[in-house]
Amino acid sequence: MAQMMWAGRSSKEVDSKVNDFNSSISFDGRMYKHDILGSLAHAQMLYERNIINAEDHAAISQGLRGIYADIESGALQLDPTAEDIHMFIEAELTKRCGDAGKRLHTSRSRNDQVALDIRLYLRDEIKEIISMLSELVTVLCDIAEKNTETIMPGYTHLQRAQPITFGHHMMAYAQMLLRDIDRLNDTARRMNVSPLGSCALAGTTYEIDRHLTAALLGMEEPMVNSLDGVSDRDSCIELANDIAICMMHLSRFSEEIILWSSWEFKFIELDDAYATGSSIMPQKKNPDVTELIRGKTGRCIGDVVTLLTMMKGLPLAYNKDMQEDKEAIFDAVDTIKMCLIPFIPMLKTMTLYKDNMRKAAAKGFINATDCADYLVKKGMPFRDAYKITGGLVARCTELNTTLEELPLEEYRKQTDLFDEGVYNAISLDTCVLKRGSFGGPAPECVEAQIKITRNKLDELCRDIKTEDDNSKIRPKVVL
Ligand code: ARG
Repeated sequence: MAQMMWAGRSSKEVDSKVNDFNSSISFDGRMYKHDILGSLAHAQMLYERNIINAEDHAAISQGLRGIYADIESGALQLDPTAEDIHMFIEAELTKRCGDAGKRLHTSRSRNDQVALDIRLYLRDEIKEIISMLSELVTVLCDIAEKNTETIMPGYTHLQRAQPITFGHHMMAYAQMLLRDIDRLNDTARRMNVSPLGSCALAGTTYEIDRHLTAALLGMEEPMVNSLDGVSDRDSCIELANDIAICMMHLSRFSEEIILWSSWEFKFIELDDAYATGSSIMPQKKNPDVTELIRGKTGRCIGDVVTLLTMMKGLPLAYNKDMQEDKEAIFDAVDTIKMCLIPFIPMLKTMTLYKDNMRKAAAKGFINATDCADYLVKKGMPFRDAYKITGGLVARCTELNTTLEELPLEEYRKQTDLFDEGVYNAISLDTCVLKRGSFGGPAPECVEAQIKITRNKLDELCRDIKTEDDNSKIRPKVVL
């Protein structure tokens, strides 16, 4: 049996099996810092509104700061039998400062408290994820910069399609990740409003100041409706969704790295520190990191579904089902961070086999479009040029040769528009260098993409990087 803090109404103590089942401290314990921050802001507001006196305010603040310091140092362990982190901290505060501690929960409920804590906690996690993604984008720009002339095949349907460069390919991923950062920023902005003061669901008769607590916590404003304040979990769902999309990008990238490091491609080789061996096959070098990222994407997609399904049938306002939000969103956040930690240095240290990339681009009629374009530039309609080039490809296959090596008389059998110039027009270098349309693979285009990307990255990360006192999201209460 367990004695609960809310034990006033019941004639019996709660069965310990129910307490175990109900308890969330094993997973919400990680929000202790944010719970304490929220309480410090709440206590200051209660004092400024004359709801508690200066002495109680001082005792509460000192008590909360002491609890924070002791949890950080390990002097205070979280009690695994406590109902949740909110109850644990309040009980500990009361142990330390008596009646003052019991006054902290005036005009507050765990419903607005937990809704606040999760926002404050996730706001910090988003910052961390964005800075990791920003490092990744920078690494991609650096790799791209060195490989604006590294020709490789571009694929559609995993069939060689047209030549591109490795730099161009890297910058495609950089764009996806920039959108991911943009989405995370957007989620953080919408998340950064305060439910505190919504109380259980219907506000309070005390003359509280919700604008003050919001400002103290570095939040934009108080949430407008108290029912919504305690029952909204949109920000968890948005974040889970942002993470799932980003993981989908990392998973596609991982899939390519897996292909590229296979013997069949051999475009890259992972550094030994980022690959594993087989327990039986001595020749093996396995890209486990990327396979795990591809695999873990599934659980992040699952987390979005968990959250949506958990919420979809809930009447307003708080329901205990909502306690399930934490494990899902924490899992998503932990997973993406866990994936980014090895992924970034793995990319930095991989070796590129540029010759193999180029060889793969030189076969497979990857320049057929350029051959057709050559005829178009001589006045032939594209569809006719397309047909003639198709015939030439068939002829090459018959003769077991390539367009680069097919003799001129074979070309001229199709049309006398062909002359010696065709060989230059279909050379790999021309195919890539001449693709100078905005966004294309020509070296100067990729250089422009890198520049745009670095600027955009700076712009997107400006708020995160300003850790000074003016930073909007920096809490004004100090721990
Ligand atoms: N541990 C709870 C949660 O995570 C805190 C809110 C409890 N509120 C309540 N009315 N039982 O959702």
